[in-house]
Amino acid sequence: MQYLSNNKITNQRVILRCDFNVPVQDKKIMDDNRIQKSFKTINYLLENNNKVLILSHFGRVKKEEDKENNSLYIVYEYLKKYYDIEFINNPLDLSKVNSSNKNIFLIENTRYTDVPNKRESANDLELAKYWASFADCFVLDAFGSMHRLHASTAGLSTYLPTYYGFLVEEEIKNLEPLKGHIDLAIMGGAKADDKITIIASLLKKCDHLLITGGILNTFLKVMGYNVGQSLVAEDEDVLEQVKSLIEENKGKIIYSEKFVVKRGNDNLVVDLKEIKNNDIIYDNIIDFENIIQDSKRIFLNGTCGMCESDAYQRGTKELFNMLISSHNDVYVGGGDTVSFINNWHLTPYFKYLSSGGGATLEYVANNTLSTIQYIEK
Ligand code: 3PG
Repeated sequence: MQYLSNNKITNQRVILRCDFNVPVQDKKIMDDNRIQKSFKTINYLLENNNKVLILSHFGRVKKEEDKENNSLYIVYEYLKKYYDIEFINNPLDLSKVNSSNKNIFLIENTRYTDVPNKRESANDLELAKYWASFADCFVLDAFGSMHRLHASTAGLSTYLPTYYGFLVEEEIKNLEPLKGHIDLAIMGGAKADDKITIIASLLKKCDHLLITGGILNTFLKVMGYNVGQSLVAEDEDVLEQVKSLIEENKGKIIYSEKFVVKRGNDNLVVDLKEIKNNDIIYDNIIDFENIIQDSKRIFLNGTCGMCESDAYQRGTKELFNMLISSHNDVYVGGGDTVSFINNWHLTPYFKYLSSGGGATLEYVANNTLSTIQYIEK
């Protein structure tokens, strides 16, 4: 793997792929960590007289109407406070870059090119070639997007000498211990569908896998429990996979049977068997203090409940406290989980907070990333 740290790049036109897919609410960036973590590479490239064209995706763009709420302009306004930067509002026309005297540009959301025909997300090599024609080399620093084989993450490497930036290097080095054995993996978050394959891989290298959050609903349903009106996976394939995982991993898959449901105006803590047909599970209270204490290396992804709401943060906060007081090495992946840790000022108590969500999961489960495999081939 060619890292930027081992290759001096000066006086070049560089395409830099960042992951600026940050959470935004009411037109405000709620967590700027990913952007801040990209500064090291950006600064290095600028200090060495390079012209830097930054590409990133932002949100999901499937149809024309999705564009309006998924513009990178908000990130441009943020970056403007740090750099004399120009915004290029059409990712299919970078011609302004050649006539401008600026040294740093942010190009509009790469996923705008997915409408009407998928280009970025289908790794359209013609698109990658077009972008590549504006640069001499490609620096990939979008760790959070490296599980996506897209034109801006993978395709560009077909046409340009490719290096991994400082953020990617930091992630790969810090997550290295998780390529080996993991004592306890904790998987939470909303939907089982996205995470089943990863859970299957994780089970091969951990002693215990604690399932919580919305994912747990699907596991409980497959085991025959009543989960009321809670969100569950509907896809037959997913349900079949969950069934086999449960059968093959008895004793390894663990879960806590205490839940928070809302009845009338009250939030009540109930046991699994007390869940009624109309209940919705909003939070899961964890009771595995002993296993947490005994697990030296822990990987955490996802929360126990609907943490966006103050009323449903108890499970996650109690879990975080158990993890912190264990003094064990806790590695965390997943945008939301990391945001809560940062916003609750718990950052120093964790071994490593990854900037990736799906990418971190793929890396930990498979010991590599799709983009790395593509580039290194
Ligand atoms: C993330 O936030 O996990 C990455 O930016 C990838 O986003 P995606 O799941 O929309 O590809």
